[in-house]
Amino acid sequence: MSVTVRVPAKVNVQLAVGAARPDGFHDLANVFLAVGLYDEITVTPADELRVTCAGPDAAQVPLDRTNLAARAALALAARRGVEPNVHLHIAKDIPVAGGMAGGSADGAGALLACDTLWGTGASRAELLAICAELGSDVPFSLVGGAALGVGRGEQLTGLDVGGAFHWVFAMAERGLSTPAVFREFDRLAEGRAIPEPVASRDLLDALAKGDADALAAAVTNDLQPAALSLFPELSATLAAGRDAGALASLVSGSGPTTAFLARDAGAAEEVARALRDSGTCRTVRTAQGPVPGATVV
Ligand code: C5P
Repeated sequence: MSVTVRVPAKVNVQLAVGAARPDGFHDLANVFLAVGLYDEITVTPADELRVTCAGPDAAQVPLDRTNLAARAALALAARRGVEPNVHLHIAKDIPVAGGMAGGSADGAGALLACDTLWGTGASRAELLAICAELGSDVPFSLVGGAALGVGRGEQLTGLDVGGAFHWVFAMAERGLSTPAVFREFDRLAEGRAIPEPVASRDLLDALAKGDADALAAAVTNDLQPAALSLFPELSATLAAGRDAGALASLVSGSGPTTAFLARDAGAAEEVARALRDSGTCRTVRTAQGPVPGATVV
């Protein structure tokens, strides 16, 4: 018997970052949108805990107990007093170290898959608490849709979205480490007063209306200057998307994946074609959002 869970990637349509806290994390106003690029996590009973991964970026995925999928299985097993003897297979389509919550998706997916396989029947609240222990973005990977995350980004409020948004994602030649991007944010912020992060009213209204032009006018990412400082070549990718008519061009989360909002599916295909021809990125994908979070398939 095995259980497979499908989990979407995310793009941050607003990422407002406050000053570094004493614990090293940053308070955020983080507006997540789940988009239709997916990892699938399959859990099967085994003699001992084992992780395998397949997909274009599989070579970069750690297969030991630092993998978020393994950590999720261990956390649930410890709480429930069961042995974590499972084979976790990750069919990976979300870019690794890309700023699209691929690792978080695997954590949330493995947690839901193990809960289902073991029949532990954990409540939604308990699953969300384990997700928050695993990482700041993991709770959102479980719930999907659209949500505002505050605190580290783990305290979620679901958001209404009035329609589908069409996105193009350009994957970069190499990854970026999230802690390194936050450190660069701190370095660039030195000597400046950092305002409290707050969600933009205009942005929440644009989401609620499903209005792509209004959303494009409101998207912001406070980590973008830090990501561009560590990865200057991304500005050429952003320019290529803008030149191709994207309504908005931004770095996704801590990057280096870049995200482009298009008016409709046809416009998204045009932007995707131009980005492929630009030679400024590794691969290009289109996806819509919002989509549901982790789901047993
Ligand atoms: O929570 P997660 O393990 O995904 O965070 C990875 C790293 O990103 C943290 O160790 C920290 O350096 C940075 N981070 C942060 N503030 C947040 C979320 C993440 O500084 N709100």
